[in-house]
Amino acid sequence: MCGIVGYVGRQPAAPILIEGLTRLEYRGYDSAGISVLGPSGQTVVRRVGRVRELEAALPKRLSGTVGIGHTRWATHGPATEANAHPHSSEDGRVSVVHNGIIDNANALRERLTREGVTFTSDTDTEVLAHLVARSAADTLEKRVLDALEHVVGTYAVAVLDVEVPDRVVVARNGSPLIIGVGEREMFVASDVSALVRHTSSVIHLEDGELASVTARDYRTFTRESDDTGRVPTEIEVSEDDVEIGGHGHYMAKEIAEQPETVARMLRGRLDTRFGTARLDGLNLSPRELRAFKRVTILGCGSAYYVGELGALMIEELARIPAHAEAASEFRYRNPIIEPDTLYVAVSQSGETADTAFAVREIKRKGGQVVGLVNVVGSTIARECDGGIYLHAGPEIAVASTKALTHMGVGFALLALLLGRVRDLSVADGQRILAGLERLPADIATVLADEERIATLATELSAAESLFFIGRVRGFPVAREGAQKFKEISYRHAEAYQTSELKHGPLALIEESRPTVAVIPDDELTDRNRAAAEQVVARGGRVVAVTHPGVDLGGLDDRRIDVPRNEIELDPILLMIPMQLLAYHAAGALGLDIDKPRNLAKSVTVE
Ligand code: F6R
Repeated sequence: MCGIVGYVGRQPAAPILIEGLTRLEYRGYDSAGISVLGPSGQTVVRRVGRVRELEAALPKRLSGTVGIGHTRWATHGPATEANAHPHSSEDGRVSVVHNGIIDNANALRERLTREGVTFTSDTDTEVLAHLVARSAADTLEKRVLDALEHVVGTYAVAVLDVEVPDRVVVARNGSPLIIGVGEREMFVASDVSALVRHTSSVIHLEDGELASVTARDYRTFTRESDDTGRVPTEIEVSEDDVEIGGHGHYMAKEIAEQPETVARMLRGRLDTRFGTARLDGLNLSPRELRAFKRVTILGCGSAYYVGELGALMIEELARIPAHAEAASEFRYRNPIIEPDTLYVAVSQSGETADTAFAVREIKRKGGQVVGLVNVVGSTIARECDGGIYLHAGPEIAVASTKALTHMGVGFALLALLLGRVRDLSVADGQRILAGLERLPADIATVLADEERIATLATELSAAESLFFIGRVRGFPVAREGAQKFKEISYRHAEAYQTSELKHGPLALIEESRPTVAVIPDDELTDRNRAAAEQVVARGGRVVAVTHPGVDLGGLDDRRIDVPRNEIELDPILLMIPMQLLAYHAAGALGLDIDKPRNLAKSVTVE
């Protein structure tokens, strides 16, 4: 969703802001703008559309070395130039960029209008620019504090003032904001990918914290103006991680790098001697782990589907009742929080608002929550009591792939650890560890079959509507397969339990509506094959995602074989062809694979 960048230093700010905004494009946006402070005052340029259109619209001579920029995802008001950020005060003195939502914007707008302010946009953000400009306080920092006193809602903001041309003042409440510390230059961003080219030394602001940033220094402080004295930490993300390399799309790059990233994730976490996982970041002793009677997993979208896989793994390996729930629903149903339940929040970005609110609700009620999170230092990672970092590296394509695979691996490690402090034998633990060690090579085997999968994907892309079916461990795989397919190919793809097909949806089967069937080599293979044969008998076409050696009878001509691993880990591998099917179907349709319409990479609003 919306992205923020800021720069204070010695170099012209505009190219750095544009480059930062380009790095944030993947998050999804519909308009963009920058504001630069220079010798002749403030220059604000905004455009609907892509960052390159904004860049083309910039005046030739824009030499100022202080500036802020924004990519906007429309919430209050349509995607127009007037609604794009930065927003300025009436006298043009102050400009503001903002991520988040100001809940009392209407009331503030009415009050300011009564006081004679003329608004030029439909946005909630514009009230901030007027509030800062109208404060009588003697420093920009205090004027920002004054303005925020009136505001109810979530925000990450960056503010410029023509009268104080050496600084950017920023504040955070519920939306991420990071300061990058350089050599006599400082950066501000809502996401580390916007600043990795310049520095690896960063400060993640906390909620309720502000910072005043100049080229040589920064000061972090609370709403009560008390210094918080934050020191930078080093991030692992490098510039290469956010480059597309030789790939046509980020999604292709992220699919291709999975063998390597999964191997990296496993490093140091496998205790082969005791057949268990080393997960020190959980901050849970064996005794505490043994005391949990239930596990509840919370995530949104694809993360929720992998959570369903995780729940099955935990039940199978640890024999603890476990279930997954959409965090977006959980937080609104006054959930019963139990002290002997382990809550697990799962999120790639660590910034998904619905999941973050669920974490807060659990903690407010005394529950214990750990995170399976990819982005180090993100909101959810920091708010959880402990966790497992996914170490998938930055994921830029909107449709998640490698992070989901890593979530699957993270759940396998957690399930193993929970199992080994209960009834799981050391031999079974070692069997799972051996399976995990084989995963990178197994993923590479699936990827080697890409050409064939692409042919099947092209065939599937012609259908307006598809079914994805699977059961038990295969059902979350089918759900994720349908999700990925619909997200980037815009085809209607519906996931169904294979066992439920005959209870209704079979009526829809016809030649134009193909089915992708997950048919692993397990205790249900015969039943799954029989269900797929029923589809064929009704004129439907079936692509089977299966294991080598499974006898598919008449379904053999459209099969995708995935290497057999351990039965509990197989679903992780079965998800890989789903990524390739979606990718190549969208490619065959000529769609914008990395930035599908209407979607954002991290959904930081409710
Ligand atoms: C699908 C997808 C989304 C996310 C969901 C949660 O490809 O990317 O469904 O899985 O928005 O996002 P995170 O994992 O960042 O919390």
